[in-house]
Amino acid sequence: MNMHTLPAADTDAVFQSYGRCCRTDAFFADFYDLFMSKSETIRAVFQNTDMPEQRRLLRAGVMWLIMYARGASGGKLRDLGRTHNRDGYNINPAWYGQWLDALVEAVARHDKQYSDELGAQWRRVLTPGVDLIRDAY
Ligand code: HEM
Repeated sequence: MNMHTLPAADTDAVFQSYGRCCRTDAFFADFYDLFMSKSETIRAVFQNTDMPEQRRLLRAGVMWLIMYARGASGGKLRDLGRTHNRDGYNINPAWYGQWLDALVEAVARHDKQYSDELGAQWRRVLTPGVDLIRDAY
């Protein structure tokens, strides 16, 4: 049990919701459409990115965020912190709020069991891992 570990009721609900979302690749396509529609600056960041590959990589990335909230060590997230920091992709810490908003919006579209409570659980579960990556800036 680490400090960032959340109640099993939250992490179980999110883990199962993520399973329903992952049934189609459209979940990840919609996530990036929603995220890039937040600002032209964010869209420009992915100008030269191979998006099919990026969608595949994000599938694992979200899983690592959920596992972290379930008590995993966070080594994978620290690696992402390094690739995203000022010496890497130079991702502005202010963009992570929009990243999380877009993710929850994509869940709302794809999980037929979505509710406001489930959306709040997603935010609670992902926030410690997102903060870890953001704070590595
Ligand atoms: C905390 C949430 C995030 C997660 C879990 C995440 C996950 C990932 C993963 C797994 C990769 C591929 C592995 C790597 O290159 O290290 C990646 C690459 C990348 N991410 Fe993120 N990311 C997050 C937030 C963001 C944000 C907010 C941006 C801002 C626009 C961003 C921009 C990028 C870029 C530009 C790449 C490289 C794309 C390329 O190879 O062309 N990420 N991310």
